[in-house]
Amino acid sequence: MDNLMTAQHAAGKVLVDPVFSVVKAAKDAAEKYGMEKVVNATAGTIYDDQERFSTFSTVADVMNDLSPAQMMNYAPIDGIPGYGEAAIKFVFGDSRPDSYLSAVATPGGTGALRHVFFNYADEGETILIPDWFWGPYRIIAGEFKRNVDTYQLFTKENNFNIESLQQKVLQMLKKQDRLVVLFNNPAHNPTGFSLNEEEWKATLEFFRDVAKDKSKHIVLLLDVAYMDYAGEPDKVREFFSLFGGLPENILVNVAFSMSKAFLAYGMRCGALIAISSSDKVIEEFQEAASYSNRANWSNVPRLPQELFVTLTNDSGLIERVNRERQQLRRMIEARAAIFTKEAKQLGLDFCPYTAGFFISIPSDNPQEQAKKLQEQYNIFLVPLKKGLRYAICSIPISKISGLAQKTKQVMEG
Ligand SMILES: Cc1ncc(COP(=O)(O)O)c(C=O)c1O
Repeated sequence: MDNLMTAQHAAGKVLVDPVFSVVKAAKDAAEKYGMEKVVNATAGTIYDDQERFSTFSTVADVMNDLSPAQMMNYAPIDGIPGYGEAAIKFVFGDSRPDSYLSAVATPGGTGALRHVFFNYADEGETILIPDWFWGPYRIIAGEFKRNVDTYQLFTKENNFNIESLQQKVLQMLKKQDRLVVLFNNPAHNPTGFSLNEEEWKATLEFFRDVAKDKSKHIVLLLDVAYMDYAGEPDKVREFFSLFGGLPENILVNVAFSMSKAFLAYGMRCGALIAISSSDKVIEEFQEAASYSNRANWSNVPRLPQELFVTLTNDSGLIERVNRERQQLRRMIEARAAIFTKEAKQLGLDFCPYTAGFFISIPSDNPQEQAKKLQEQYNIFLVPLKKGLRYAICSIPISKISGLAQKTKQVMEG
């Protein structure tokens, strides 16, 4: 007998979160040297140019008007009445796919991703994600003994590497009949990359072709956590209309999160939305996702759901939120413009950034270089497997200039 109290599957599980450990180091440095001497480029939360945590006043106003029962009562297992429809309306806007649709409330995008990994991949099976990826995907999959494998997101020329995706999909489908393929789009974490319409069309054409083999079951999982920072609300949603009328053995799942879209990170609310040409697949989805809600968290916090339904059913309120969000989006764009311009001038390579919270720099030695940036310049960023991630969502514009140059210096040793 071994002397562990944990069951064997839980043995040795230690969470090393690369973001939150650097966040703490940045805070300590700010206390020691003063905030003005420190660049905290760690967390994926928006801080304004005065380094204040950003929120939307519209969201706060609506929240303050909720009754105690709206805040504190239990919610039905799959969401409060109207929540699913409100999520579908908000996420797709005018680009609603022409298919059967359904939605279940989840605690954040994380809850939605968890349900897809669990319900559409069997134990021991592998989920396909890009090689630049948000670390928790691996943790979420691993918790339930699902594996992840990666395809190369970019070619050497920094374009979308559809060949790598195709190769991996075909290779994996030789081993398993069920395959979840994840896209974090638009404004991908950690690179800020977004597929354009042509790239989506080519990708979907490939999957239509693969789906001619009816023994294969494909789930395309769209993680749209950063969608509303990728451009104008109507424009960034246009790609959804391409997802109508797909073969019945392709299910599309969209993981929606209120965390960034409404700056409501800690409220833990989102939705898992399904798109399918088969009403049976949709029915099955609804049952499985509701069952998983009950099994994992019973139900989803009521307060943010009430907030979301109130906001999205009032065009005046949602317009106000959109205006507030647009201001922050422009603030992030201005920061990114300075960073990318300086990087280009210096010849510092960075991943193809179109929009969003993060810019990443490919590196062979990210841990070491991140440490040097801390020690030499009090710059705190997140070292990833393949590079260095700057959360430009949290760096004030006054501290952006010079970051590219310091990064280059450290990388050149
Ligand atoms: C790529 C990506 N997907 C999903 C999420 C999920 O966020 P939440 O669970 O807060 O909705 C995050 C949060 O940082 C993220 O970066």
